Amino acid sequence: MKDFIFSYPVRIYFGDGALDKAQSEFDQIQDKVLLVYGEGSIKRNGLYDKVTSLLKEKGKEVVEFSGVMPNPTYQKVLEGASLAKKEKVGFVLAVGGGSVIDCAKVIAASACYEEDLWQLQFERGLRSDRSLPVGAILTIAGTGSEMNDIGVITNENAMIKRGMKTRAPLFAVLDPSYTLTIPKRQLFAAAFDTLSHALEAYLGQSNKDNVSDDIALAIARNTVNNIEHLLEDFFDMDARRNLMWDSAMAENGLTKIGKELDFTSHKIEHQLAVFTDCNHGEGLALILPAYYAYIKEEAKVKLERIAKLVFDKDGAEEGLKALKELVEKMGLPSSFEELASKVKIDEALLNKVAASVTIVKTGPCLLDHEDILKILKNCL
Ligand code: NZQ
Ligand code: ZN
Repeated sequence: MKDFIFSYPVRIYFGDGALDKAQSEFDQIQDKVLLVYGEGSIKRNGLYDKVTSLLKEKGKEVVEFSGVMPNPTYQKVLEGASLAKKEKVGFVLAVGGGSVIDCAKVIAASACYEEDLWQLQFERGLRSDRSLPVGAILTIAGTGSEMNDIGVITNENAMIKRGMKTRAPLFAVLDPSYTLTIPKRQLFAAAFDTLSHALEAYLGQSNKDNVSDDIALAIARNTVNNIEHLLEDFFDMDARRNLMWDSAMAENGLTKIGKELDFTSHKIEHQLAVFTDCNHGEGLALILPAYYAYIKEEAKVKLERIAKLVFDKDGAEEGLKALKELVEKMGLPSSFEELASKVKIDEALLNKVAASVTIVKTGPCLLDHEDILKILKNCL
């Protein structure tokens, strides 16, 4: 166990009618609120009306910022930050999934700086911990963004997708009934994201009998069990409730304490998304099994443990088989042909993707760009 500092800033309101239970939060926030949301799902399912009524009831002035796209761009962040500054908002409320919450968190931080936040963080390497306060109303579980301080953003000029350091929300509303309108493929893609967070954390470097590893494996196991329940009954509310909490648990930092993380599959998927605009969970469903197959010798012991404790199988090979079968049952892509992409995926494109992945030794072995290209080509 390595040294660490840990603190927990987010108040969680979980369950049916959680927004009602979170009402007191809205009494305490500033009067001018930037309401950040996506491309319309909250208008279609009635949540927009519910939230705006509540804000009015509480006497808040609402400035709307909509149209946050999946894989949010830095350009979108800059537009939101400029609006937040112009309108002098005092609070940012995100209503949506990981893309909306990430974008809102980075807007909230950017609004507190005159300088460009991307340059500040990645080009000048400076600390930037100022932010407007943020609240999150989650509509799809998977990323865990509602409970952490990362905003994953695509810088379309630099052609890089990266986690920007932000401040975690003050509070988050997790009502599993909001997930009922999510299309099946999207919901399973997001659940696979949760599973990959738990597995990627586990695959990182840790000493034996590390409690963070045991928590990660328990989350992975619970995620798989509840995915199986949803495969039997897509409207199983208990499974949806469990998956929503699994998602928050997998990315709230608990699995990362005192160890080095892996997240190689995430690094590759993020760059794949820059070039193809693919869905995050779908990209992971393709890359994670291909990556594990590639490193199966170096990661033998941990893959065997995943096989046993997550899939109830003996041996790394059988565990990998179970992982691939799960992807198939969930209707997620097993090859690039099945991945929704804005451009044709061929070897030339994969070369560009591989070359753009930042190399860091975080997992069981140090991969170079050639290895990454091979992993990607194995998905063709
Ligand atoms: O935009 P709207 O209209 O809201 O539609 C969204 C979007 O099309 C729709 N949706 C969300 N809730 C819905 C719904 N449709 C019907 N009913 C609902 N209740 O689902 C689509 C996908 O939404 P999105 O927010 O993009 O999904 P997700 O939560 O999977 O977020 C993915 C983003 O989060 C980043 C990913 O890279 C990606 O950009 N991540 C953030 C992380 C973090 N902050 O810690 C970690 C993750 O590893 C990940 O990188
Ligand atoms: Zn993820």
